[in-house]
Amino acid sequence: MSSSARAKNPALPESVSPRMRALVKARRLNSRNADKHWLYQNSVQNPQVEVPFIDRVFANEFGRKPNLLREDFCGTALLCSWWVKARADNRAVGVDLDGPTLDWGRVNNLAPLGAKADRVTLIQDDVRAVRAPKADVLMASNFSWWGFKTRDDLGAYLRNCRASLKPEGILVMDCYGGPEAQVVQEEQRELDGFTYCWDQDHYNPVTGEVRCLIHFEFRDGSRMKKAFTYDWRLWQVPETCDLLRECGFSRVMVYWEGTDKDGEPNGVFRVSLKGDEAPAWVAYIVAVR
Ligand SMILES: C[S@@+](CC[C@H](N)C(=O)[O-])C[C@H]1O[C@@H](n2cnc3c(N)ncnc32)[C@H](O)[C@@H]1O
Repeated sequence: MSSSARAKNPALPESVSPRMRALVKARRLNSRNADKHWLYQNSVQNPQVEVPFIDRVFANEFGRKPNLLREDFCGTALLCSWWVKARADNRAVGVDLDGPTLDWGRVNNLAPLGAKADRVTLIQDDVRAVRAPKADVLMASNFSWWGFKTRDDLGAYLRNCRASLKPEGILVMDCYGGPEAQVVQEEQRELDGFTYCWDQDHYNPVTGEVRCLIHFEFRDGSRMKKAFTYDWRLWQVPETCDLLRECGFSRVMVYWEGTDKDGEPNGVFRVSLKGDEAPAWVAYIVAVR
């Protein structure tokens, strides 16, 4: 298992900002000139893996490819941008509360797509308030749904998700866990031109709440502290699956990551009723409308 639960795949996605790329090349990236959204995208996002995964999961259910993806908590809408690049008839809707983050995505992820960007719609709103257009797939990635900390709040979100899906539709949510998820600790990963730091800053076993921070460090010793802060409830898989069924989803599955011959995670997620005792793991919960 990866030492960092949040490090789903260390491969860098294709960069979107020429200025950042030039600074990395010149070995001059630092806390003063680096763009935190660019750093984030190049640290934890993996659309080149998630798009084919979504296609595979949807095809497993319905024997065809999906077209309309809604990316909840879309942030900079990176997944939306890869979704419409993948097929000419793909469309994407991204929903996020934060206007400046959506604007960053418009400039850096959508504008470079040219005409393909016409097939992306960004909505600045609460994910619980958006029901149209009905989607084939709803994706809530990078654990953002953990911002809903009570059964009532998460249930309201999940019911809205179900109402937002076409009759043949799925909701895909990622999650992480394992004993390491409950340890206050900081982990670092060296990337091209900077170091990504995942800081599990606080864990409350009574409420299940966690506070996690992302910092970035640079070659010149400068540090971008608390670039991102997350205040979450560490939802467990069985309670989430129960709640999804209570909210009306007809079938709920867990896609668990396989391992290679050395027992290392192989990046291939398949439906499984049995996980393993990895100290830290990432999985996907898939709910069929
Ligand atoms: C961790 S980022 C996720 C970015 C991206 N989806 C990813 O996979 O990395 C979380 C985003 O969720 C947004 N957000 C949090 N609560 C929200 C809500 N209730 N409705 C819409 N967006 C929300 C924040 O503004 C933030 O941009």
